[in-house]
Amino acid sequence: MSKKILVIYYTQTGQLSDIVNNFLLPFEGEGLLVEKVCINPVKKFTFPWSSESFFDAMPESVSSKPTELQPFELKETTYDLVVLAYQPWFLSPSIPTTSLLTNPTFKKVIANTPVVTLIGARNMWINAHERVKDALKQADAKLVGNIALVDKHTNLVSAVTILYWMLTGKKDKCLGVFPIPGVAEQDIVNTKSFGQIVKQHVLKNNFNGLQQELVDNKAIEVKTNLMFVEGRAKKLFSIWANLVNKSKNRRRALVFFKYYLLIALFVVAPIVLFFYRLIFAPFLQKRINRQKKYFLGLTTTK
Ligand SMILES: Cc1cc2nc3c(=O)[nH]c(=O)nc-3n(C[C@H](O)[C@H](O)[C@H](O)COP(=O)(O)O)c2cc1C
Repeated sequence: MSKKILVIYYTQTGQLSDIVNNFLLPFEGEGLLVEKVCINPVKKFTFPWSSESFFDAMPESVSSKPTELQPFELKETTYDLVVLAYQPWFLSPSIPTTSLLTNPTFKKVIANTPVVTLIGARNMWINAHERVKDALKQADAKLVGNIALVDKHTNLVSAVTILYWMLTGKKDKCLGVFPIPGVAEQDIVNTKSFGQIVKQHVLKNNFNGLQQELVDNKAIEVKTNLMFVEGRAKKLFSIWANLVNKSKNRRRALVFFKYYLLIALFVVAPIVLFFYRLIFAPFLQKRINRQKKYFLGLTTTK
């Protein structure tokens, strides 16, 4: 009997659908039943964002508050594999992804089913993925693989270019000097090689060793600096989300958050990172390697 695969995702810019389409190329002509579903919120997140609407998405993203999704239909009630493609927003799963993960139909479909996650991020997906892992576990899904595509430019450069892209809607060179925002075209095209790896496991109906193979093929990488920054930012974001949610003047609180984030990202983080790499990291190598293995999905404890 041919294998049934569900690929489900949300995308605002189209980047994640490009990633999904390339990932699925090897699945063509193999007699596999591939169903691709793009979800959409009832109240759309407009693109390009205004500065206000962009930061306004923070509290609900961080506090995992779902939004209503447009009804979507799934042809089957069970699948041999579900591929959940998603993007992080403010170090959390995007609001449409959180909404999908709380959707009763989707939860039923992923119960006792192998799931591969396919992330399209700027470069910080670790915290978001921990949350997705929890939600999958609660739904009794079996996470068998994780692929993370990122913008490989430095943290500060990709922060500038993503803000430019999100706030103007233009995926070109900011000021003519910065690189093109988002995941590099070549990396998007190369997603088909990860699709090929996953396909072999689907055909064998055996996902043992899949994550190791994905790691060996650089389908996912964990950088020490980014792991450190995300580790610190996680608590701070949830403090800010609570503050904004409780604030009587949400708009003003979000303006404070915006400036806080810009200063933290462009001024504080580089200084703290410099001292961390110089003074602390050399003595913490064992722990760093252990954490990297965990976030790569190769172990279950940090
Ligand atoms: C509101 C918002 C917050 C974002 N926060 C993060 C983040 O915390 N980490 C990250 O790596 N990328 C972040 N991104 C980038 C997205 O994960 C994604 O790569 C990009 O928006 C492309 O969008 P698409 O997948 O919807 O087409 C953010 C994007 C938006 C719009």
